[in-house]
Amino acid sequence: MSAGGAVWAGAGLLLATAFPAAALDRPESADVAQNYVLFCGGCHGLDGAGVRHRVPALRDTVGRFLRADGGRELLLRFPGVTNSQLSDAGLAAVMNWCVARFGGDDRSAAPAPYTAAEVRAARSEPLLNVRVSRAAFMRRAGVPADEAGEY
Ligand code: HEC
Repeated sequence: MSAGGAVWAGAGLLLATAFPAAALDRPESADVAQNYVLFCGGCHGLDGAGVRHRVPALRDTVGRFLRADGGRELLLRFPGVTNSQLSDAGLAAVMNWCVARFGGDDRSAAPAPYTAAEVRAARSEPLLNVRVSRAAFMRRAGVPADEAGEY
């Protein structure tokens, strides 16, 4: 067998062993705070503080996305959000929880709670360039560049 063949055989083995692992996926909880911990908190921190220069904070900053047009939709399209294993309804609930918990003074600007249908639509339109879309939004919302890029 050629070296390439061995690689493909190896990949097949990996796939074959990956499928049973689906049964081990973290189950979605009925408790929204628990879902934040399981599906988001590992990266963004249990208290939403993020990891400096690596993962943006959500605490006191997530609400900035509610300050200008397009931000509410943009919030749903970050890769960590759209790619979550949570169901559409579970993710909508977590996003509403994040806005309520971490949105600070901006949370009153939230026009309406997210719905599962909105999550489904956002998942079909992933962001092509996260940094560009995010920076454009921050300019529109009037967030100074040195504050907008802090992660
Ligand atoms: C594997 C790590 C990881 C997980 C899990 C994750 N995120 Fe993220 N998230 C990131 C990173 C990194 C970014 C920065 C943008 C990018 O590079 O994708 C981000 C960006 C964001 C943003 C935009 C914040 C900003 O100021 O730009 C929001 C909102 C967000 N995530 C929410 C969530 C929620 C809600 C969950 C759970 C459903 C989640 N994320 C799961 C890593 C993660």
